[in-house]
Amino acid sequence: MIRLNKIYLLFFTLVFSSISLFSQTDGYVGDAVSGEKLWVSNNCGSCHQVYKKAVGPALKGVQDRHSVEWIVKWVRNNEALRKSGDAEALAIYEEYAGAAMNLFPNLTAPNIIDILAYIESVPDPATAVAAGPAAQGPAKKDNTTVFFLLTLVVIFAIIYLLLGKVKKSLLRSVMEKEAGTEDAFAPKGIAKYLPSSWASMNPVILSLSVTTIIGLFGFSFLYWFGMNKIGVQQGYAPTQPIAYSHALHAGELKIDCKYCHSTVEVSKSASIPSLNTCMNCHKGVQASEKYGGETSPEIKKIYAALDYDPERPAGKEFGNNPKPIRWVRIHNLPDHAYFNHSQHVKVAGLECQQCHGPIEKMEVVQQWSTLQMGWCIDCHRNRGVDTDNNNYYEALHAKAKADLKENGNQSKFYGPDGNVKITPAMNGGLECAKCHY
Ligand code: HEC
Ligand code: HEC
Ligand code: HEC
Ligand code: HEC
Ligand code: HEC
Ligand code: HEC
Repeated sequence: MIRLNKIYLLFFTLVFSSISLFSQTDGYVGDAVSGEKLWVSNNCGSCHQVYKKAVGPALKGVQDRHSVEWIVKWVRNNEALRKSGDAEALAIYEEYAGAAMNLFPNLTAPNIIDILAYIESVPDPATAVAAGPAAQGPAKKDNTTVFFLLTLVVIFAIIYLLLGKVKKSLLRSVMEKEAGTEDAFAPKGIAKYLPSSWASMNPVILSLSVTTIIGLFGFSFLYWFGMNKIGVQQGYAPTQPIAYSHALHAGELKIDCKYCHSTVEVSKSASIPSLNTCMNCHKGVQASEKYGGETSPEIKKIYAALDYDPERPAGKEFGNNPKPIRWVRIHNLPDHAYFNHSQHVKVAGLECQQCHGPIEKMEVVQQWSTLQMGWCIDCHRNRGVDTDNNNYYEALHAKAKADLKENGNQSKFYGPDGNVKITPAMNGGLECAKCHY
């Protein structure tokens, strides 16, 4: 902190010493606190904002555009400055044709330098927003590696202890043969609690069986762990950079999922909508009621990301500095697995909710299913496909009808209700290559 303060001090000293070089007020360093009071009492804010264009220009960085001397003259009496034929004054006046700034002859040069210091001290709301998503970081910590290492440490510790025991019994039998003393090898420490009969066992068999038991235990645990825990993210619900709610948009407002996830019927991926899709409504809907007439801070994030400002002149509301919003990805199969939305939504006619759960009730999306291989296979084994409305299954359907006629309820196509039942499994839905690259 101390170092940081020194850097700021140095920075401001540099800025203001360079200001004073060019100004008539040599040596005066602006005071942001008094500047803020002057800004308020002189109503600069009724026409200016620091970062946004309002009636007058945004004043951030005004010292880069003009010398302090010029700014002092301008604020005290911009009319006189214009009449003197000053090019800068005429240019800015022309740019804001139709609006003229008041005269402030009451303000002294130090007053105006205070105001400039205040302007410099106002933080940029846009960078605060941009820092938001990055600062969130990964919302869910992945502890799997730690668990893994801990398990390994425990297993090795047990092996180490038991091998120590084995080594002792080996030594003891050797010593006994050579008529050594028993006592020196009386069990100590943890070894006291191990069955004493172990000591009389054949050490080779003992060590082999101990290693096997531990090995089997450890392996099956690691296997179970690897299969069921690593990479399984069921319930994963990270905080998103904008508090966008499916419960509101898809639930209450009943916007069709496909309005936003527009590729879900035609492609592998469902796609996440661009913010321009949101702007179809949110140019107008600013959700300002809750915020006393101010645009909702969450909607402001959309505007900031698109560099959109409703107060800019018509046709110029979108600036040139859009920054993409980084939604945190929730569902994510490993690279070796292939999943295709159009196949399931269009061909199979499945509802989104069958796999994603009640999204229309979720404030924050969470991963509803395990997305494990067993989950895919279960559904492929059990779920019937709609053969009537889909000529993709015509040949299979004909075969099934014939088989059903011949074998009755012995047919593999016999469904519980006596009708044909064709599952994706019967149509190759269990073939490794269909789901794996
Ligand atoms: C009634 C509205 C109004 C008020 C109040 C006002 N200004 Fe201005 N200001 C303007 C307008 C409009 C311009 C653009 C030039 C023009 O059209 O005169 C401007 C221009 C400026 C500029 C030049 C900016 C540039 O980018 O070239 C500065 C500096 C400035 N104002 C500072 C102030 C300060 C400091 C205060 C408060 C003490 C203040 N203004 C109060 C309307 C206002
Ligand atoms: C107004 C636009 C909009 C509508 C309508 C909408 N979504 Fe979304 N959806 C989004 C946005 C934006 C995200 C990314 C942010 C998030 O996860 O909340 C998203 C994320 C998702 C995700 C998680 C994506 C991932 O990262 O894995 C799923 C699943 C999803 N939506 C399903 C649905 C379903 C099902 C419906 C219809 C019931 C629906 N969405 C309606 C905009 C929409
Ligand atoms: C079909 C119109 C429509 C679309 C498209 C739409 N919204 Fe909305 N949104 C609304 C309405 C209506 C509200 C409720 C406004 C209110 O409460 O006053 C709202 C509210 C919100 C809010 C809550 C604001 C608050 O602070 O309460 C957020 C955040 C939001 N939308 C984000 C988004 C995002 C992000 C997208 C694009 C993925 C999007 N919206 C797309 C109509 C829409
Ligand atoms: C058969 C199950 C299933 C159905 C039905 C389904 N999804 Fe998905 N969805 C998935 C899987 C699996 C993933 C992960 C895909 C990946 O990582 O490649 C996913 C991912 C997503 C994503 C994240 C972006 C992407 O494409 O990877 C969105 C958004 C999404 N689904 C929306 C929808 C919507 C909207 C519907 C309904 C129109 C729907 N899903 C129907 C299984 C399904
Ligand atoms: C809720 C049920 C359900 C789940 C869960 C599901 N599927 Fe399917 N899947 C179907 C149905 C129904 C079909 C038949 C539609 C078709 O033939 O294209 C199908 C077809 C397929 C096909 C095409 C098979 C063919 O006949 O060519 C592939 C590949 C596939 N699914 C992959 C997956 C993967 C990968 C997952 C898991 C991530 C998954 N599915 C999860 C229901 C499901
Ligand atoms: C219906 C689609 C589907 C079929 C058919 C399928 N797999 Fe998978 N498989 C998956 C998915 C999805 C995953 C990723 C699961 C996960 O991340 O847990 C996976 C993961 C795996 C893994 C990695 C281990 C794991 O659980 O992460 C292996 C190995 C594997 N599959 C082998 C096979 C073999 C061999 C076959 C053929 C007998 C096969 N798969 C058929 C969908 C399928």
